[in-house]
Amino acid sequence: MTQTGTVYPDAPTTQTYDNPILSAIRNRRSIGRVTTQVPDHSLIRQILEAGTWAPNHHLTEPWRFFVLEGDARAELGQVMGAVAARRESDAVRKEAVAAKAVSKPMRAPCVIVVAVEPSIDGSIPEIEEIAAGSAAAQNMLLAAHALGLAAIWRSGWIAFEPEIRDHFGLSSRAQMLGFIYVGYPAMDAPARQRRSIDDVTTWIS
Ligand SMILES: Cc1cc2nc3c(=O)[nH]c(=O)nc-3n(C[C@H](O)[C@H](O)[C@H](O)COP(=O)(O)O)c2cc1C
Repeated sequence: MTQTGTVYPDAPTTQTYDNPILSAIRNRRSIGRVTTQVPDHSLIRQILEAGTWAPNHHLTEPWRFFVLEGDARAELGQVMGAVAARRESDAVRKEAVAAKAVSKPMRAPCVIVVAVEPSIDGSIPEIEEIAAGSAAAQNMLLAAHALGLAAIWRSGWIAFEPEIRDHFGLSSRAQMLGFIYVGYPAMDAPARQRRSIDDVTTWIS
């Protein structure tokens, strides 16, 4: 297989296509700094609905969303802080590590928690349920972009600890996929690069 190693060093930050979907896919960026202004629920509902139109095998619709605003973010932060403190063995560092974790959900006025509950009868391999949930998350990122909102999908090891799943009343079989932080942008979209499709594609005929 030929490896060209090509990236696009001079790729434009944004690129226009005639097709609005292609433009959104190309120009969406993860934006981590947002203002404290809470997006209207009508916007968040559009984002959630976009998530539910993701493909999913056997129509299991395995995604579960939790929309956190206000104090609900701080409550999640407390759980995250306790998890971080439990993991930190250095007694001196414990407090600072916990405080950092506590503050994480406060980075945006709205946090959409994304998880999947795999189908109960086990007819779908778990990877497919996770794939469907991931497609839902990408749909939501694109919807936020289309609505002029900033969004970023964040995870981190704490997200995958059982305490987080339990906090949302999910089953022990559930898989957390992460947190989508949503707000109004307080920074320009960062420039990003991607490898050439030729680096990651093999054409077979
Ligand atoms: C499953 C997943 C987890 C992610 N977790 C984090 C995270 O914890 N912190 C973060 O800053 N970005 C996180 N990201 C966002 C990536 O950093 C981001 O997508 C990447 O830098 C490419 O930027 P772009 O989305 O603007 O193209 C995550 C993305 C995915 C798909």
